[in-house]
Amino acid sequence: MSELSVNHLLGIKYITEADIQLIFETADHFKEVINRPIKKVPSLRDITIANLFFENSTRTRLSFELAEKRLSADVINFSAASSSVKKGETLIDTVNNILSMKVDMVVMRHPNPGAGVFLAKHINASIVNAGDGAHEHPTQALLDCFSIRERLGGVAGKKVVIVGDILHSRVALSNIFALQKLGASVKVCGPKTLIPKYIGELGVEVENNLNAALNWCDVANMLRVQNERMDSSYFPSTREYAQQYGLTKKRLDSLNKEIVIMHPGPINRGVEITSDVADSKQAIILDQVQNGVAIRMAVIYLLASKIKQYEDH
Ligand code: CP
Repeated sequence: MSELSVNHLLGIKYITEADIQLIFETADHFKEVINRPIKKVPSLRDITIANLFFENSTRTRLSFELAEKRLSADVINFSAASSSVKKGETLIDTVNNILSMKVDMVVMRHPNPGAGVFLAKHINASIVNAGDGAHEHPTQALLDCFSIRERLGGVAGKKVVIVGDILHSRVALSNIFALQKLGASVKVCGPKTLIPKYIGELGVEVENNLNAALNWCDVANMLRVQNERMDSSYFPSTREYAQQYGLTKKRLDSLNKEIVIMHPGPINRGVEITSDVADSKQAIILDQVQNGVAIRMAVIYLLASKIKQYEDH
């Protein structure tokens, strides 16, 4: 297979295992490119990409921009906080105005679940979802699985536990879809109040005891407690949460094996993970960030190839 089955990356739910493998093979090539002294390729000199961020971001926004620049695309950046959205302009009006400047692709982070799907139905450009509310964060799941593949030699057959605030997490949902498509077994672990009731329908087991979950897994993906999405109290106190669900060196030392530790960032140090664990050799948190550039180069390159094919015909 040499092209994606989709024209947009709206979620892992909408792509196939073959799409993911193609993205990984393309990212392998780009990872080699970005480790060369000259880190840039001319592949997308004729493509213009708009990065639209309606919600805060450090890693995803910088990583997409760097990926686009490494591919020689023209890039424009839009931040809702300093835009005419503040004067009441709608999403579709905002995007159509940007597209009238001859933009080919839109990378969008938005607080509303389904914002990317909505946009794809109403505008004529390729859309990449950079995180939509508590729905999906597909490039995060791709870079997470790519990092597991790099560290453990593959994803199929691996046991992955996703720990913490599953209820508010787009990272959790996209990871569940991606890991399962690649043949991994997935469990979630966290307070009952932060585990969605539908989780069993996704083929995911729940383990409420963190020590049991860690004993079971090869990889623990520790999620941030998303206070900004909580409209009420989901656990008695941060201290109690850290005691029950925080990953500490003591917990890791009690295991009779070495597991891989992941975190999508940003980290609440001392809450879901202690600093000594986050900065340990078992943690691949900065590898995840580094791999994010190669994965986003691959996604943009493969989607842009489809735009070019369409224009050529
Ligand atoms: N992992 C992640 O999406 O981080 P940012 O919110 O900083 O982009």
